[in-house]
Amino acid sequence: MTIIDGKKVAQNIREELKSKIDVLVENNEKVPGLVAVLVGNDPASQVYVNMKKKKCDELGMHSKVDLYDASISEEELLKVVDKYNNDPNFHGILVQLPLPDHIDEDKIIDSISPSKDVDGFHPVNVGKMLIGKEAFYPATPSGVIELIKAYDIETKGKHVVVIGRSNIVGKPVAGMLVQKQAGANAIVTICHSAAQDITYYTKQADIIIAAMGRAEFVKEDMVKDGVVIIDVGTNRVDDSSAKKGYRIVGDVDFENVSNKASFITPVPGGVGPMTIAMLLKNTYKAFQLIENKN
Ligand code: GUN
Repeated sequence: MTIIDGKKVAQNIREELKSKIDVLVENNEKVPGLVAVLVGNDPASQVYVNMKKKKCDELGMHSKVDLYDASISEEELLKVVDKYNNDPNFHGILVQLPLPDHIDEDKIIDSISPSKDVDGFHPVNVGKMLIGKEAFYPATPSGVIELIKAYDIETKGKHVVVIGRSNIVGKPVAGMLVQKQAGANAIVTICHSAAQDITYYTKQADIIIAAMGRAEFVKEDMVKDGVVIIDVGTNRVDDSSAKKGYRIVGDVDFENVSNKASFITPVPGGVGPMTIAMLLKNTYKAFQLIENKN
């Protein structure tokens, strides 16, 4: 059984980007810029956004967290996005989700210029992804695919069972893996809460991508021998022995399922670090396209 080291793969991606940005800095050229718009004070969103900024800074990218009170109106937030759409110093824009209830998330995402949509959430990018065209692909699903590639795991003709149908992970990862191209070409099943017997599907899987947000849901008796496990879950569970009073676990019971798996991602240290690395990669790509660099 091999534990997939997402930290290492993510670090390699960041190092590759850093060496490209170092050259720009040495030549006194413009560098890629990413702005993260954060509304409200959700602690998890604050942690994610600050982490994104920190990683940008480490690479020498230009970055900014633009904070707004939870009471900001939809109209004001649309103006903020429009300002960044027209700001040549920012090649990537992300609006951290979720947004407060009075703001229509779809409307905000639709207002981001598709050429700066480094989250890959804009319908234009989602549509292009689904028909296999060049576009910004969302970070977490891209990270999943990169991990599979980094460990030379065959996907062609393999049965991938995705658990979860979110727009951020489940649907796009299924859309990417079904494409007729290297690193994909899989037979894909999407399972979700309406499945009467999830085990019926997961038992048939060569590869399971767990992304439904239920702590340690996937158990040993739900998988076949030699299965590849990619665990996208990050769930807090109470743990009085931990300093913070909780610990982070995935959607897969790691100890239990690793007995049967050929490859498995840990949580933390698996898919998580890949998400930011792929976001940075998308930001660099946006920079290249907007600035006509290669
Ligand atoms: N909320 C949870 N994940 C994400 C993400 O990848 N991007 C944004 N913008 N918000 C999120």
